[in-house]
Amino acid sequence: METKGKALVTGASSGIGRETAIKLAKEGFQVIAAARRKERLDELARQNSNIIPRPVDLSDSKAMEDFCKELSNLSEPITVLINNAGFSLRGAIEDVSISAVKNLFEVNLFGLIKITQACLPGMRRLRKGTIVNLSSIVGKFPFPTSGPYSATKHAVEAISDALRMEVRPFGIRVITIRPGVIGSEFNETANRLTGDLLSRTDPDYKTVYQTYGAGMGKLFTNVTVPGPELIADLIVEAVLSDSPKAVYAKGPFVKELLGERLRLDDEGFYEFMMEKTGLKGLVVE
Ligand SMILES: NC(=O)c1ccc[n+]([C@@H]2O[C@H](COP(=O)([O-])OP(=O)(O)OC[C@H]3O[C@@H](n4cnc5c(N)ncnc54)[C@H](OP(=O)(O)O)[C@@H]3O)[C@@H](O)[C@H]2O)c1
Repeated sequence: METKGKALVTGASSGIGRETAIKLAKEGFQVIAAARRKERLDELARQNSNIIPRPVDLSDSKAMEDFCKELSNLSEPITVLINNAGFSLRGAIEDVSISAVKNLFEVNLFGLIKITQACLPGMRRLRKGTIVNLSSIVGKFPFPTSGPYSATKHAVEAISDALRMEVRPFGIRVITIRPGVIGSEFNETANRLTGDLLSRTDPDYKTVYQTYGAGMGKLFTNVTVPGPELIADLIVEAVLSDSPKAVYAKGPFVKELLGERLRLDDEGFYEFMMEKTGLKGLVVE
């Protein structure tokens, strides 16, 4: 069957990736759907004839080596790459283990780079391609207790900005997506991986977590959290556009927080965030 070309969506077993895979398949792309949960991908493929399931763990170096080799050797190269797989864990910097931070970077950053490297030679040969990288509003500023996750997204921003300039001469477009807060399995996964922070932290930090938690509760009052379709639609719009923007941002807190980050200087934004998170003036005796 004639298709619009071959696409790869990582993290296609749930949330934004799943919706994006379905929408791209409906647009006529043949979509390789990658993630760890095979049964989810198989189900997706059963429901969409244009979707090919490909179970892979981005944090498994041997599995990634095989996967990347496979991508490099495809007779029809990937021309649309959606680097979406990602997760978060929470905790003050003192409370996160280095091995957990390394694993986070393995998936959110190194996995993205490896897959991009495997797809680029094919795109260069064809002198066309679109790479969409999922950042976040926290790719431009961190929330407290979300430092390592924010760091991975800051890195995704930097890699995307550099790559965009490097590959434009070959007709390859690089698009950064910055979602605000989106309803998916993201929160649940972060809660599961983080565990009970309050029970294991030093008593010094308890007040910080509790005050910040109350600040966030206030911030979320009256916020309606949209589903992943909002971002999947944005991704597909960018992919189909003849002249996509470098960066797209959408969802709750894009205007209120990201907008302020882009408007204020470093000192001003620090004061703004201390106020917003409820931490301003907090002193632990
Ligand atoms: N939801 C939000 O509020 C939000 C906001 C800003 C940015 N984002 C970003 O948007 C992207 C998608 O998130 P989402 O909201 O759709 O979350 P989600 O529903 O939790 O989906 C995450 C996807 O990543 C995959 N994944 C996680 N670890 C993996 C690994 N080791 N190997 C392969 N795949 C892995 C998961 O699949 P398996 O578990 O099956 O492997 C799943 O398909 C992420 O990059 C996230 O950082 C989300």
